[in-house]
Amino acid sequence: MRIAHLSDLHFGRHVVSDRLDALRTDLVNAHPELVVITGDITDRGTRRQFHDALQFLQSLRIPFISVPGNREVSFDAFWEWAFPRLALLRYQSYFGPRDRIIHVSETHKVVFFGVNSVHPLPSWPGTLGRKKRDWLGQRASDFKGYFKVLFLHHPVLPVPGSSSNWAHTFSDAGKVLKICSETGISLILQGHKHRSSVMDLRIPDTNARIVVSCSGAPLRPEWDAVYHLIRISRASVLVEPREFVEERFTPKPACLISLDGTSPQP
Ligand SMILES: [Fe+2]
Repeated sequence: MRIAHLSDLHFGRHVVSDRLDALRTDLVNAHPELVVITGDITDRGTRRQFHDALQFLQSLRIPFISVPGNREVSFDAFWEWAFPRLALLRYQSYFGPRDRIIHVSETHKVVFFGVNSVHPLPSWPGTLGRKKRDWLGQRASDFKGYFKVLFLHHPVLPVPGSSSNWAHTFSDAGKVLKICSETGISLILQGHKHRSSVMDLRIPDTNARIVVSCSGAPLRPEWDAVYHLIRISRASVLVEPREFVEERFTPKPACLISLDGTSPQP
């Protein structure tokens, strides 16, 4: 199965049409079967930004799934951060369920679990909490024989080259990693740091092998203007970063990781 991992688009005043057109062209040409977005779709969570982002994604004519980022807590809707039960209402009105998402490809036997890691207060550290962790553990255990993918906004692992800002942390990352290793989740898609990286994690206790894809911020020139194309198979994960350089997205060196301990063939 071939997917695109997008994150931190930050639709708003910084998004220029040239870069947006280049991203649209690159995605349409690559034509992945699914686009997975790990939050911060908008910059400030305004209706205009949600509308523009949704219009862009629908224009691709590629199925997409998403989880919210901290930037989806609407800055101009005080009730969203003043009353936690009302958090992310605007996000939901444009992008649907916010907390627990399951997407299944029966063709490829791949299941995607999306969880909301956003605290209702803007720019507060991320967390899942016990209920969402329990849900993830239970549902991931249910899907036996499937390739399992977790996608969320906050980083389960620190990203090489990025800062360790307090607001960028994820309070129960260790517990989430334990769930992944025990339930056979083999790929984690994360965002938030605006740095592109791929990590290969081995956990000998459970014999787990987990690939972590950290997308950059493809529409923001001041960060890593990179998104990832990812090919998933039973035996390996191939990550192909695409970087905006001189008016178009171009390939960076790909990363092929074997999941069964054998040497991957390019
Ligand atoms: Fe972001």
